[in-house]
Amino acid sequence: SYQFVQVSTPKKGVGLITLNRPRALNALNTPLFLELNDALRRLDSDKSIGALVLTGSHKAFAAGADIKEMKDLTFSTAYATDFIELWSTMSHAIKKPVIAAVNGYALGGGCELAMMADILYCSASATFGQPEIKLGVIPGAGGSQRLTKTIGKARAMHYVLTGDTWSGVEAERWGLAAKVFEGPEECVEGALGAAEKIAGYSQIAVKAGKEVVNKSQDLGIREGVEFERRVFHGLFGSQDQKIGMTAFSEKKKPEWTNA
Ligand code: CAA
Repeated sequence: SYQFVQVSTPKKGVGLITLNRPRALNALNTPLFLELNDALRRLDSDKSIGALVLTGSHKAFAAGADIKEMKDLTFSTAYATDFIELWSTMSHAIKKPVIAAVNGYALGGGCELAMMADILYCSASATFGQPEIKLGVIPGAGGSQRLTKTIGKARAMHYVLTGDTWSGVEAERWGLAAKVFEGPEECVEGALGAAEKIAGYSQIAVKAGKEVVNKSQDLGIREGVEFERRVFHGLFGSQDQKIGMTAFSEKKKPEWTNA
């Protein structure tokens, strides 16, 4: 019973969160984030859920942080409340994979939220951008960092400083989106299908896979490869490693225990 997000389980093992603030094009305000974080945490701790999909409407994934909420914010309040730290839950605290299905506008904080997801899918006509420069500010929820790491300094600098937008087709071409779909329905269906597939694997292996790929963003190649090897070693202590490899050898379908 949320006001700004809808939660459902449209496929086995899949939690779908739909941002639902249509009159403001899903502008991300504090009440919406409190609900989103609560929904994320609940789904993350639900044993029947293996993967999450986050989407918006066909018109807007999210048109950014709520400008009207921020308009009168002072430095001291922003600093004292660590404004926007609330947004870090999805990228820092959620262990299950999150797939963002982006349709319509993903601007400013909307683009940043999409980039916090583990996998980003979009439709061809999606509109991405970091237009904060037009408001006299800069991206504040990781946009300058994640965008630069993903599409490179040349393009990131261009888009952060001009506020120009780019399309879903470009997002896929530049490696920001893993897949681009013809339209919004296909995009959400594609994300739900991928989430269902992920939810059907050993949840221990999925968690480890997410952890090691994410570590690559923080570590150099040598430490990253060593970290991966240790986690890989650790999986030989799981039941699911024995189940998966025995099933392969016996030409059977594995029945995961998530242990
Ligand atoms: N914050 C608050 N309200 C917003 C909003 C936002 N980011 N984006 C849209 N809205 C509201 C509009 O004010 C409007 O409300 P009213 O009907 O009450 O006037 C309603 O949503 C519909 O918007 P428009 O009439 O503008 O719709 P449009 O189709 O003509 O234009 C748009 C769509 C191009 C996305 C335009 O709304 C727009 O430019 N929005 C702002 C985008 C933006 O600058 N985002 C960055 C925000 S700053 C940020 O995100 C900081 C950060 O890094 C964390």
